[in-house]
Amino acid sequence: MAGNKTLTIIKPYAVKNGNLGAILHKIEESGYRFAAIKTLKLDKHEAEAFYQEHKGKPFFDDLTDFMSSGPITAAILEKENAVADFRFLIGATDPNNAKEGTIRKMFATSKTQNAIHGSDSDESADRECDFFFSKRERL
Ligand code: PPS
Repeated sequence: MAGNKTLTIIKPYAVKNGNLGAILHKIEESGYRFAAIKTLKLDKHEAEAFYQEHKGKPFFDDLTDFMSSGPITAAILEKENAVADFRFLIGATDPNNAKEGTIRKMFATSKTQNAIHGSDSDESADRECDFFFSKRERL
């Protein structure tokens, strides 16, 4: 069914600073089911491949440097209307503009170190889930 899954990444700074458990708990208590989850480290080339749609934008190098700077946790989340609802739960890209109660308001420190990623469309969710997980890694 379209729209029932999204891909999230808990970004390096949030993992390094001990906020991983709190963020996963916030996701779970918001009604998402974890269909797959893993912690790994991307190299620069892999980060560039994941964010290929942003190649050429001024922040591309900073973004891919940051995303390959330390461990991340990637997960496939399931829930009705997952993509749109999850974007609402994580809040605005810049934590200064994120609403109270959103994950970025609670855990992000800057527009680069913004704690968490959520797919921006069903098509992106499909591509991003396939990027991180093989079929046998999904529940
Ligand atoms: S855009 O151009 O509107 O599509 O960009 P946006 O959706 O705001 O952001 C796309 C991803 O790039 C990250 N980003 C940045 N990283 C580092 N530095 C700066 N200045 C910056 N601006 C945006 C942003 O966090 C998005 O990453 P994800 O992982 O999707 O959250």
